[in-house]
Amino acid sequence: MTERLILGQTLAFGGDPFTDGPEVARHERRGGVLVRDGHIAAVGGAEDLRARHPAAQVTDHGDALILPGFVDAHAHYPQTAIIASWGKRLIDWLNSYTFPEEARFADRAYAAEVAGRYLDLLLANGTTTVASYCTIHPESVEAFFEAAQARGMRALAGKTCMDRDTAPAFLRDTAQSAYDDSRALLARWHGVDRLSYIITPRFSPTSTQAQLEALGALWAEHPDCLMQTHLSEQTDEIAWVKSLYPAARDYLDTYEAHGLLGPNGLYGHAIHLEPREIDRLAETGAAVVHCPTSNTFIGSGLFDMGLRARMRLGLATDTGGGSSFSMLRTMAAAYEVAQLRGTALHPSELLWLATGGSAEALRLGHRIGRLAEGYEADLAVIDLASTPAIAQASARAETIWEAVFPTIMMGDDRAVVQTYVAGRAARG
Ligand code: GUN
Ligand code: ZN
Repeated sequence: MTERLILGQTLAFGGDPFTDGPEVARHERRGGVLVRDGHIAAVGGAEDLRARHPAAQVTDHGDALILPGFVDAHAHYPQTAIIASWGKRLIDWLNSYTFPEEARFADRAYAAEVAGRYLDLLLANGTTTVASYCTIHPESVEAFFEAAQARGMRALAGKTCMDRDTAPAFLRDTAQSAYDDSRALLARWHGVDRLSYIITPRFSPTSTQAQLEALGALWAEHPDCLMQTHLSEQTDEIAWVKSLYPAARDYLDTYEAHGLLGPNGLYGHAIHLEPREIDRLAETGAAVVHCPTSNTFIGSGLFDMGLRARMRLGLATDTGGGSSFSMLRTMAAAYEVAQLRGTALHPSELLWLATGGSAEALRLGHRIGRLAEGYEADLAVIDLASTPAIAQASARAETIWEAVFPTIMMGDDRAVVQTYVAGRAARG
């Protein structure tokens, strides 16, 4: 059995730094990760691992930092080509840029081309797992899962459902077809290799109550599946929801009333929440996903990191509403947004959100997101001096946190020297 020994600095979180402090992370200046059968067999000191496993094939990354691969808890792969589109707020942005582009995914060949390009961009940025929306077209889901499967990646995705006349006619399904197509895709892909199906109503403004109910019923039939949607992203969106659902107590209630609130629910953005919504999310064990580059780019608002004390929290790019494929850039935006709300997130907290925290939000915290024995060997190897600007700042560092923070704030794909998927080098 071939063993692979990957050497470098290592940073292994034994727990959640938000609750246990940065000390839960163990730093090895000369560390290593032993990989066997796609899993992490050991994490420790480089020399010790070398001595114990003399037959292992060694890759030495020198001073680079070995982290778990990044986990992006909310993205839209079909929006890859319209990232960085200028000048709109959410509803106009959807109508002007997003929906016309998503219409193209009826073409399986186009969907396959974008899915491959998107996943390669993720790997170049050190991201090894993503939870992605697709489009209303089953072909878009097939193309995405096939592309992830070909790369051996752990990936989650679902057909985005929209049947209301608020969405353009060329991009609508029905309550029945959404249920049937989602069910068939779930049966075909959920649990195959490293893939998971997520039930995906886009958001309540583009679904009829009949569709929300049908997807709530599907979720009740498959409670182990995740369900992802959007919640309280922009104030004008919330006013729209209230006009479309006059009987609802609040935005979350439009989901709750149709069986779409539960412990495996993932609610993207969740910026302008009312107290009842926060209480219900916490009581039901749901997770929220922070999308900071999107929330600033589309002008949505400043997420309240205080929610983290009450519920699982993932971090995400939300491409292409988000302005970057990079989880480094996303951590930087999370830091800046928290600063605007009076909190300085510690580098350990930012790194945790992008790895183990997002993994826990996706209910995968036992498989990915940590450098620990038994975990899947998805790794990002990060150069802490990838540009002259970063190198001159990190050169002054006295601690690992000071060494890594300039890369969190200023790093991009140039900092990612290698990405491993299940122990196999995914780049170069
Ligand atoms: N709300 C509904 N759909 C979307 C989307 O595609 N992106 C963002 N940012 N918000 C949404
Ligand atoms: Zn989104």
